[in-house]
Amino acid sequence: MKTTLITGASGGIGEEFARQLAARGNNLLLVARSEDRLAKLANELSDQHKITAQHVALDLTAERAAHNLFAETERRELEVDFLINNAGFGSLGDFASFDVERDEQMIALNISVLVSLTHFYIRPMRERRRGAIINVASTAAFQPVPYMATYAATKAFVLSFSEALAEENRQHGVKVMALCPGATDTNFFAAAEATRPPYRMMQTPQAVVETALRALEKGNSHVISGWSNYFVTQAERLIPRSVVTRIAGKAMRHYGKD
Ligand SMILES: NC(=O)c1ccc[n+]([C@@H]2O[C@H](COP(=O)([O-])OP(=O)(O)OC[C@H]3O[C@@H](n4cnc5c(N)ncnc54)[C@H](OP(=O)(O)O)[C@@H]3O)[C@@H](O)[C@H]2O)c1
Repeated sequence: MKTTLITGASGGIGEEFARQLAARGNNLLLVARSEDRLAKLANELSDQHKITAQHVALDLTAERAAHNLFAETERRELEVDFLINNAGFGSLGDFASFDVERDEQMIALNISVLVSLTHFYIRPMRERRRGAIINVASTAAFQPVPYMATYAATKAFVLSFSEALAEENRQHGVKVMALCPGATDTNFFAAAEATRPPYRMMQTPQAVVETALRALEKGNSHVISGWSNYFVTQAERLIPRSVVTRIAGKAMRHYGKD
């Protein structure tokens, strides 16, 4: 059965991908740790849209999680023709004060799992000469972000990796795109133990996902969600990188915790 696999589907941007794609008739496999939320969403979307929505409750930072997830989709005989690598988290604060374990988990989830799942699912997509992968990066991918150093670096990886794969796979009928949202109204800030930005500075997950799905249809290799986010990332390219980093450092140092 043709299926869209969404990681981090229990809330935020991932849940919104599930809602918009269910409305388009896609069958879904929803993955995250919160089993109750996944089961509720899968039931709701199956009933509402007459699709098949399934879930797998899994900590993707666990050892061999990506391998086990791939084995599970094989066992269920799912043909994953659309992969959305969305699960991810950030941390705000002085790098030197962080636990090494938290950074290791962030790199595992934001980078390693994303690369492994892309490996597993891109091969069959290429054999079928059809498929799509969206990797969720961030506007933080475009510059170093002091006080979110590891997070921004993971997203720079995701952007670079996705654009390179988009080019490699264009001729094979497989689309790869990095989605770069700016501040979005989700649980992200609570998970990062960071102050929530004012609502007027955030996009809704609905707007972000609509932008992503439109850009994927057009064949973009990346998309920045929101005009103001687009202009800021373009303006940064005109200023020396050291100056951009210093300005970001000043802004982020005072963007403290509650
Ligand atoms: N919100 C923003 O401002 C913003 C901006 C730019 C980029 N992004 C990116 O957007 C993506 C989605 O984040 P969001 O904003 O929607 O935040 P969110 O509401 O916190 O959602 C994160 C999702 O990832 C899942 N997740 C976290 N750790 C996991 C793990 N170890 N194993 C499996 N699933 C895990 C969470 O589910 P469980 O807790 O149930 O596991 C949840 O479904 C992330 O990659 C984030 O970096 C967000």
